[in-house]
Amino acid sequence: MLDALRFITCGSVDDGKSTLIGRLLYESKQIFEDHYQELEKASGKYGTQGKELDLALLVDGLQAEREQGITIDVAYRFFSTENRKFIVADTPGHEQYTRNMATGASTADLAVLLIDARKGLLTQTKRHSRIVSMLGVRHIVVAVNKMDMIGWDEAAFNAIVTDIRALVENFGFASVQAIPMSALTGDNVAFHCEQTPWYTGPSLLEYLESVDVSKPEAIQPFRMPVQYVNRPNSEFRGYCGCVASGSINVGDSIRVVPGGAEAKVKSVVIWQGEQPTANTGDAVTITLDREVDVSRGQVLSSVDDPIEISDQFEASVLCLSEHHLVPGRPYLIKLHTAQVGVTISNIKFKLDINQGSHLAASTLELNDIGEVTLYTNLPVAFESYKQCKTLGAFILIDRMTNETVAAGMINFALRRASNVHWQSVEINKAARATLKSQKPACIWFTGLSGSGKSTIANLLEKRLFVAGQHTYLLDGDNVRHGLNRDLGFTEADRVENIRRVAEVAKLMVDAGLIVIVSFISPFRAEREYARSLFQEGEFVEVFVDTPLTECEARDVKGLYAKARQGKIANFTGLSSPYERPDSPEIQLNTLNCSPDQCVQTILSEVIKQQ
Ligand code: ADX
Repeated sequence: MLDALRFITCGSVDDGKSTLIGRLLYESKQIFEDHYQELEKASGKYGTQGKELDLALLVDGLQAEREQGITIDVAYRFFSTENRKFIVADTPGHEQYTRNMATGASTADLAVLLIDARKGLLTQTKRHSRIVSMLGVRHIVVAVNKMDMIGWDEAAFNAIVTDIRALVENFGFASVQAIPMSALTGDNVAFHCEQTPWYTGPSLLEYLESVDVSKPEAIQPFRMPVQYVNRPNSEFRGYCGCVASGSINVGDSIRVVPGGAEAKVKSVVIWQGEQPTANTGDAVTITLDREVDVSRGQVLSSVDDPIEISDQFEASVLCLSEHHLVPGRPYLIKLHTAQVGVTISNIKFKLDINQGSHLAASTLELNDIGEVTLYTNLPVAFESYKQCKTLGAFILIDRMTNETVAAGMINFALRRASNVHWQSVEINKAARATLKSQKPACIWFTGLSGSGKSTIANLLEKRLFVAGQHTYLLDGDNVRHGLNRDLGFTEADRVENIRRVAEVAKLMVDAGLIVIVSFISPFRAEREYARSLFQEGEFVEVFVDTPLTECEARDVKGLYAKARQGKIANFTGLSSPYERPDSPEIQLNTLNCSPDQCVQTILSEVIKQQ
């Protein structure tokens, strides 16, 4: 059987990528006769090459969709020669499609970096070579295209090669092959060019047919992330997934991670039926000799060399979202088959794509590459991406919209989760609450500045206090004088502001108190995060829904006037957004209700919950 080479072509717009792929398909005789005739017709009509065939039309079928802004994943094209099969990931060159390019690169053995000989290295070249190296592509071909347009100038070619070698020197590629070519004429793509007697290397197709991309074989321990537990009846329980590394035999002992239960493999079923062994890449169902608790996201792993777990990582991420990545904001992480809550605790740096230097950053924007530290809510089994792509690659997902906001790779764990335990204490929330004869709760006020939050919160606390309840009021302005005095009003700072106060409120509820939180808390994601820290019924979101015009008319602190004069940046409602709650437990209309009436509404709701 012929072996297959998976590669990706990367280039900027107009570097000739479509023409190159079209040329490879054409030269490897992958174009059927009827296609060929259609191509001849279409070239005359839409082509850019006069009477010549426009090979770019072969692969530009998706262009129209691209122009309409329809998101295209990656187009995979297949062709073969006598010596090898090829799977090429064709991804759009525009910067906004960097995410597609990263997807294509994640499974490629080799990347063809297209460079327009007239333009030399562009920012996109730097971005693409950085991303392919980050994603573990080990071999690159530098296809210096459009050489015919600069008269096959050897010196110009050499200058580009020098530049690219300097650029990728520290990227860790196993091989870098530069080829002067013209995708348009086919020179040095499939046949040797007569104009380049100075180039003695292979043509692109020859090189792709012969390059050795095999990795040095190391014996990897067995790991299989569980995708699905198959339980058709009480007699059968099979664990399904893909073997991410190593192999497994009937009779081997495995450990379930996280968790630690151990068992012996009773049977291994792959698509051909029951087998004694399964290897890396096989989709399998494994049954065990005893009942153990296993669910999706856990990893079956070898007993002798079990996979590690952690809840703190250092990782490289590529931001894929128009909405920037903010430290402190709760996201979901999908790492192999596991999905848990996660926050970026710190952005260590953002990469300057052009210089390769490290920049300080408080957020990561679309297409930014950065290094971050991550905390997951629960420990997860992992490998570094370098060690195993399947167990070290992840995506970050926005909890509210389900959008994929980043792709990332685990570099290493910052600590082993197994070394840090939750200390269980004997005097617990229930005991403290009983002593105080109350049900602890978090009453969370949100609304614009000047909406009346503090006034109502203050009055509410007085009522509760008089009734003998144990309370504490956390007010935005006050907390910003102490615990959060290091924070301003950028999005990142507000996220951290709310994260901290939510954690404090949680501790206070644990102490048995009724905590009243009065913060603008303008973002849904953080309010939801706060809610997620509490038990069902403990969290009461109170939306003080006073229209902006009214808050501005009241302007108790004179801040709206200042903000209008441009003296306060990022002012909520004016130059920074306020995301209205979708379904708060309580919505107060302060135009029609007095503070007293508002408090009454809250009290009856809180009493209902008690
Ligand atoms: S939050 O957005 O991070 O939740 P927080 O409730 O802590 O804000 O603080 C809001 C208070 O800070 C406002 O009531 C106002 O007195 C003051 N403030 C100062 N600058 C701003 C600003 N740019 N936007 C909103 N409030 C501001």
